[in-house]
Amino acid sequence: MNIFVPGRLCLFGEHSDWAGLYNRTNSEVEPGMAIVTGIEQGIYGYVERSDKFRFRGMKEDGSHGEWIEWPMSVKQLKATAEEGGYYSYVAGVAAFMLEYYDVGGLSVDITKVTIPVKKGLSSSAAICVLVARGFNLTYDLQMSVRGEMEAAYRGEIMTPSRCGRLDQACAYGEKPVLMRFASENIEVERLAVGKDLHWVFADLNGEKDTKKILSSLNACYPFAQDEQSKKVQEALGPDNRKLVEQVIEAMRRGDAARIGALMDESQRLFDEKVAGACPSEFDSPLLHAVMADPEVKHLSLGVKGVGSHGDGTVQMICADAEKQEALCAYLNGKGMDAYVFTIKRQRSVRKAVIPAAGFGTRMFPATKVVKKELFPVVDRDGIAKPALLVLLQELEQAGIEEVALIVSPGDREEFDRLFKRDLTIEHYRKLPKALREVNVAIQRLGQKITYIEQEEQLGFGHAVYQAKDFAGEEPVLMLLGDHIYTTDSRKNCASQLMDAYERSGQLTLSLDEVRLEDVMHYGIITGQFTDGEERLMQASDMVEKPTMEYARLHLGVKDKRGVDKYYCVFGQYVLTPKVFELLGRDIAEGRKSENGEYGLTSVLREICRTEGMTAYRIDGERHDIGIPEEYLRTMAKYGKENE
Ligand code: UTP
Repeated sequence: MNIFVPGRLCLFGEHSDWAGLYNRTNSEVEPGMAIVTGIEQGIYGYVERSDKFRFRGMKEDGSHGEWIEWPMSVKQLKATAEEGGYYSYVAGVAAFMLEYYDVGGLSVDITKVTIPVKKGLSSSAAICVLVARGFNLTYDLQMSVRGEMEAAYRGEIMTPSRCGRLDQACAYGEKPVLMRFASENIEVERLAVGKDLHWVFADLNGEKDTKKILSSLNACYPFAQDEQSKKVQEALGPDNRKLVEQVIEAMRRGDAARIGALMDESQRLFDEKVAGACPSEFDSPLLHAVMADPEVKHLSLGVKGVGSHGDGTVQMICADAEKQEALCAYLNGKGMDAYVFTIKRQRSVRKAVIPAAGFGTRMFPATKVVKKELFPVVDRDGIAKPALLVLLQELEQAGIEEVALIVSPGDREEFDRLFKRDLTIEHYRKLPKALREVNVAIQRLGQKITYIEQEEQLGFGHAVYQAKDFAGEEPVLMLLGDHIYTTDSRKNCASQLMDAYERSGQLTLSLDEVRLEDVMHYGIITGQFTDGEERLMQASDMVEKPTMEYARLHLGVKDKRGVDKYYCVFGQYVLTPKVFELLGRDIAEGRKSENGEYGLTSVLREICRTEGMTAYRIDGERHDIGIPEEYLRTMAKYGKENE
């Protein structure tokens, strides 16, 4: 099995990882916060099972090193780790994996190294993650990325070298993450990036003494004894938090100019408050010369140090790829080792929830034998598919990585029949090529699904709440299991909604226009459009099934010509953690809606009125399959679209 692990670069919040640890001794020390990203360069390895732990690294000239072997013995692996040196890291990780997971041996062959070693890019952490991941995948241990990160850290700290807690963020790949450090606890959150961001980093080829830097700064903790220590704690604590929060927001918008300004601000703060703690290292003449260089100023939007700071590595952000290349060439010409890396646009929504545990009473008796989410529809490609498959394909196209399906106990088997059960060979042979491909796609989509059981059918809101742990602290897309969606737009409906969420950052749901005569069947949303196209709306209220009279008086939204329009929920939502928090409260307090079920509308309404809610008028159509006459219409409509 081939594995690639990138190097990692700390963009903002350096030193706040270890500083956050002091929160355990002094609760006034603020938890640390850092933005870390994997880079394009990294370490490639080939791993396979073995009866021993075998490792072959690469020499600096790019040739293979020697194979080294250890028996799978915690004692012997730990002894190698404690000795220090090149092999200590990997032996430490192997010792941890053996002790905690009781694994067999592993052979790890490092095949290519594209990351510069000892340049503040955590090449050692990347190797440790590679070994942890190697064990995880070859022994199918089902460890999460966070678990691999922990194993890499625990392995590395068995060695005399002291890595920080930032380093193993490379386990998250090339995606930027926010790390929070409070005492021993670490939280990792993926970050959204609105547009490609063009970074340059360069080794200043200067001198710095990292040990001295770390001991001088650590001397300012846990309790600040003098003015200088107070300043360091301020800079790495509250100042850093405010700065990082602003960077997250700027990254979400893809605002490179703002990030550049925040880089300058961060370095200014560092020079003002931290540098005095270790002036000999933080004078950093090379770094400051780069910052003052008119050509660098011309080509970049901001400059700051990297890692422990000092004259080690410098990072810069540019407005576009052209300037990025030009800056890199310029710095190389000045005798530095400069590299480019681009943080690719990342959406923050990567998980979706589909509730599919309802009784489907309105489609009885069909639902006595088939879940309505599995009803057949003829898709636009002319293939007859269970409705859920159509939904999953939409989610895959929108870039969703994981899907939670809320099912009622006993229904799982029905879904497994679609996703898990293989066809008999006779059946498979009868399939034309196109349908064989669909069969492969079904298996691939099935791998993204996590089943969550709703023990009792206590309503839509209750069903959604079952996904609380699955969602964690991330925003999640939620689609009704008994609808399918179409659009003629280049972007499918889920994608349009996710983009709207990235623009607003708040609870976002999709809108559909509805006639005044029909408002009593739907959740109706009112508010004000905030863009010229009348698509993005800041919602001000949401009312479930209002009367026509109430809607006419209170819920109309004027279009450009001053005519009142009415909007209902389209059936797709981006839910924030607050939604799960409030649903949890309602369930704990038994706050049911009028029909005796736990609903979602009251919670959305509460958030709309307190924190704010965005609604987006989707360019597309929704098709209901949960009501007989609607199902009939859906069939007819889909048929038309195929013609
Ligand atoms: P509906 O309101 O359509 O309810 O649910 P239902 O029970 O499926 O259908 P009827 O009203 O009995 O005909 C909207 C979505 O929420 C799910 C449904 O499966 C559907 O996808 N749901 C509803 C649950 O998962 N659990 C529930 O307790 C209720």
